[in-house]
Amino acid sequence: MSYLNFNLLEFILLMTRKKKCILPQFPHDYIGEKAEEYNQLEWMERNQKKTTLQCVEYLFDPKLGEYKIKNFSHFLILDLGCGTGFSTEVLIDIGYNVVGIDILMDMLEKAVHKTHNLSESTIFDLLLASIIQPPLRPSMFHHIISVSAYNFITYGKTEISEVQQTLNSTAKYLNRLLKKEGRIVIEFYPNNDKELNLFVSSFTRNKFDGFFIKNNPQQKAGKTFLLLKKTDEI
Ligand SMILES: C[S@@+](CC[C@H](N)C(=O)[O-])C[C@H]1O[C@@H](n2cnc3c(N)ncnc32)[C@H](O)[C@@H]1O
Repeated sequence: MSYLNFNLLEFILLMTRKKKCILPQFPHDYIGEKAEEYNQLEWMERNQKKTTLQCVEYLFDPKLGEYKIKNFSHFLILDLGCGTGFSTEVLIDIGYNVVGIDILMDMLEKAVHKTHNLSESTIFDLLLASIIQPPLRPSMFHHIISVSAYNFITYGKTEISEVQQTLNSTAKYLNRLLKKEGRIVIEFYPNNDKELNLFVSSFTRNKFDGFFIKNNPQQKAGKTFLLLKKTDEI
């Protein structure tokens, strides 16, 4: 009887912990052994790749307007927060030229090995840098995607003004990196509608048009896609 009770207690504790820690903790969950663990998880690889494909599909969403570029074999895509390269690998497999950036070396060094289908003519670069201000030339990229990473750019910012300032300056910076009519698809996990609105308005204030799609329209928080199109230079 006491054995059974103990198991039940353990189960309840585990479920409570699971409920509280749905989202990974940055940077703790992406350093050292945790980075290795992330890279080995088959379900994680499946999820991230599926989400990346969804992001690519959303780049061409007709609600963003008519798609004018005809030849996308020469596309250069920026993968923000590429981690160990699950998202990057999908982009390379499709045939895009890709620059992946991540702020943690423990994650980024594993992305080097995700290039099985790299043709000689494909451009593929990895950069240890922050999404907030990557050292890249203006007007370089046709499109930008970010899978499960954009949330973290406000890490360590406690004041709402600091959060707003970071989101704004990042959106402005991303506008400059994009070519004319370049598009961005960001998959991320806002905590609530207020936070979602902060992210959306940082882009609409900086010459982007767009909208968001929630995984489940009823959800209050969680997996959300931001679909954006650059409307003008800054
Ligand atoms: C869930 S992981 C990687 C997701 C990756 N796109 C994939 O498909 O597996 C999130 C990544 O975001 C990175 N990250 C967090 N904040 C960042 C920042 N300010 N600049 C660049 N990368 C950042 C983390 O280092 C981590 O590798």
